[in-house]
Amino acid sequence: MRICIFLILFAGSSWSVFALESGRSCFEGCLYALNCLDFNDTNPALSRQTRTCQSVLRATSLYLCVEKYCTDEGRANWLNKNNATCQTSTGVSLPPYDVIAGHDFDGVRRLKAEEGMCGSAPIHLGEPTIPDDLFFERAFRTLEAAFFEDDIHWTYAIAMYYFWGTVVSIGIFMRLTSLLRGLQTQEWQPIPDNESDSSSQENPNDSSIRSLPYALLKRYIVIPAVTFGYRCSQNIRWCTIPPRIQSLTIASFVLLNIVLCCISYSVFENNIFWPKVSKQLFRYVSDRTGIISLANIPLIWLFGTRNNTLIWLTGWGFGTYNNFHRCVARVATVQAVVHSLGYMQMIWEDGGWRLYEKYRHEKYFFNGKLATIFMCAICAFSVYGLRRSHYEIFLVTHIVFSAIVLITMYYHVEIFRGEYNVFIWPSVFIWLFDRGLRIFRILAFNPRFWNTKCSTTYDAKSNLVRLEVPCSQSFLKPKPGAYYYVYAFDNLLYAHQSHPFTLAYVSEGKESDTHPDLSSTTPRHPRRPRPHRASSNSSLESDALLPHSPISSHTPSSSLVFLIRPYNGFTSRLARLAALKPTPHTLHALIEGPYGNAIPLRTFPSVLFLVGGTGIAVPLSYLSNLLTSSQSRVVRLRIVWAVREHSLFVDVLNRFRDLLADERVEVDVHVTRDEEGKDDDMVEGLDGVDVVTGRPDIDAHVDETARLASGGRLAVVACGPASMADEARRACVRAVGDGYRGVEYFEESFKW
Ligand SMILES: Cc1cc2nc3c(=O)[nH]c(=O)nc-3n(C[C@H](O)[C@H](O)[C@H](O)COP(=O)(O)OP(=O)(O)OC[C@H]3O[C@@H](n4cnc5c(N)ncnc54)[C@H](O)[C@@H]3O)c2cc1C
Ligand SMILES: *[C@@H]1O[C@H](CO)[C@@H](O)[C@H](O)[C@H]1NC(C)=O
Ligand SMILES: *[C@@H]1O[C@H](CO)[C@@H](O)[C@H](O)[C@H]1NC(C)=O
Ligand SMILES: *[C@@H]1O[C@H](CO)[C@@H](O)[C@H](O)[C@H]1NC(C)=O
Repeated sequence: MRICIFLILFAGSSWSVFALESGRSCFEGCLYALNCLDFNDTNPALSRQTRTCQSVLRATSLYLCVEKYCTDEGRANWLNKNNATCQTSTGVSLPPYDVIAGHDFDGVRRLKAEEGMCGSAPIHLGEPTIPDDLFFERAFRTLEAAFFEDDIHWTYAIAMYYFWGTVVSIGIFMRLTSLLRGLQTQEWQPIPDNESDSSSQENPNDSSIRSLPYALLKRYIVIPAVTFGYRCSQNIRWCTIPPRIQSLTIASFVLLNIVLCCISYSVFENNIFWPKVSKQLFRYVSDRTGIISLANIPLIWLFGTRNNTLIWLTGWGFGTYNNFHRCVARVATVQAVVHSLGYMQMIWEDGGWRLYEKYRHEKYFFNGKLATIFMCAICAFSVYGLRRSHYEIFLVTHIVFSAIVLITMYYHVEIFRGEYNVFIWPSVFIWLFDRGLRIFRILAFNPRFWNTKCSTTYDAKSNLVRLEVPCSQSFLKPKPGAYYYVYAFDNLLYAHQSHPFTLAYVSEGKESDTHPDLSSTTPRHPRRPRPHRASSNSSLESDALLPHSPISSHTPSSSLVFLIRPYNGFTSRLARLAALKPTPHTLHALIEGPYGNAIPLRTFPSVLFLVGGTGIAVPLSYLSNLLTSSQSRVVRLRIVWAVREHSLFVDVLNRFRDLLADERVEVDVHVTRDEEGKDDDMVEGLDGVDVVTGRPDIDAHVDETARLASGGRLAVVACGPASMADEARRACVRAVGDGYRGVEYFEESFKW
């Protein structure tokens, strides 16, 4: 028993004698322990801060405490800083440190926690005092924990950037390797000139591409849709589900956020700030979620903009970043909600409704509340269902509320003297940058943007709008696979709205410049006068889709052609306008573009397009490049096209006769709606065109093409309705699993 007591006493005293604490928390612990005392050597009429700086008794107490409990390290610095603060804010200097020279510790009054804690009436002192061991330890640990949490909140907030930095680096790395590989294969392998060549000729450089690990990666990570099942582009209830590699990235991000909001809480009983552990937790969790939420804000802006530098660097499409955008935004919103609820709860516990009333009028407080509310509102207004059915509402609320969130957020963190503006200003900058580049792209397309007129025609038979815009003045040349945003100015109410459409082809206006220019490697779309037909009223005749009077001399030399399927919103308005007389109807519009990264299809010996409806724009935009460019390695190009309207494919096939007649090209048209007057002979002269009725069997097509490619590289490009893209994706996964390791899947979905 006695030994026990002795040990305890010894342990206690040895702790205080030998284990000096070091650093900021020790000094601040002393300062904090003495914070709420009132020393009688200063004039009570002066301001509290002046008295704090001036009081020799307080300074003596502080220095004694520091001398007794802390190491010297960093002390001079800390004192100088405090001295400087006193001098600038009150004009008074702290007494010098040597006021304690020769002071006797043992005789100094000891301060107990109950006396020193703030909150109760301050005790008045006429002599120096130092906190006793227990009180000091509590103060020290409290400060230590507070500083630790402060630092770790920031560290974890910055971790978001490390996470996305890693993801993007992987993307850049993959892009670079594939670009290098493309260069390599072009350099080493002559273009095979017939099909038998390609199957027998195995490129040694290709072997890395078809290596087992890469195939396994594709089979299990890169291509598959979701972790379960195969739906990817299709919507499940009210949400869209991204493909597996994106899902994995998103899942990791969400997990990272959950973990980082749950770990590293240094809580203990008798903390001086908040004695209860639950209160400490509330406070730290609220702060953590608040800071991480704020750190996520610039990422939301970055991923959500059209002109996102990362799209150029990684080659991942707008859709991918849009998925990231949604995910980060939702995570940040949940964090903001937790942050706000946490603070509400703390206020409620401290002073109930009355305290809340007091806070309510604080600028930072109500701005924070507004920011959280508007973040929730943005999320609510962007659920898939609403986005689809009321795009207007979605767009307007999205833009206006986002601006409100940034502004309120700015005023919410203003009290921290700009410490958190590092997250606000980049968001503003990203936004301005995006808007600036959009304007630039509009001007680059047509410097006289107010004068951009497009001619629109609507063909009821094929239910299609053809939109043609003269592009000779465009500064940026269109690439295969490029898409443009179209603003229509028929009604100023809708002028803010722009929708993306893939460039189907560039039509050369004048018949006179269709001399085949064989030396040219630039994409050209030779046009031929349409074969004359006697029976003029058959459904095969779809003159409405052809540019009207292409031969007339006043037609501009070349124009971009978009094939647009009308739905309910913007596109249905376009269709209504296009149907107006006179045909073609001229429309004032803005064209913003080009956007989009071209798929490196030229490096593949076999290419398979799986196309639905207007998705035909994608293969068309690549066609001439793949068939005429000297860098193209394509030996087999197959287009499987499911199309509802007979007249659409008749028109397109006729228009592209020359290119489609190429022996490397095979077209399988699946007409999915029976139409009267169907007449297969319209494609006479095109051997490679096969017209059948009914839905295409995607699996069989992928399988067959993979077999024909005999293990070589095969690019499968899906551009069609969601269900078709999902089927194509699944078929590719299976093909890779079946040993066709050269199969790569690409999706040019019209989803956004
Ligand atoms: C890169 C790209 C290229 C495209 N190229 C073409 C093309 O060449 N030809 C063509 O006909 N279409 C193309 N589209 C699709 C076209 O942009 C949409 O069909 C058009 O925006 C629909 O407008 P709307 O107001 O009429 O839509 P709504 O009538 O409101 O909806 C019709 C359909 O469009 C989709 N949609 C519209 N807005 C959104 C949105 N904000 N988020 C998710 N889905 C939405 C919905 O899935 C819906 O099924 C392309 C899309 C993208 C992303
Ligand atoms: C504070 O500054 C004054 C004047 O510069 C100096 O005399 C005093 O010693 C300083 N006090 C401390 C604690 O450094
Ligand atoms: C402060 O208090 C001490 C003792 O309590 C007393 O001796 C001293 O006179 C007081 N000083 C002033 C300025 O009131
Ligand atoms: C051609 O179509 C028009 C209207 O579309 C119709 O009036 C006319 O009778 C048709 N002619 C023939 C030969 O079918």
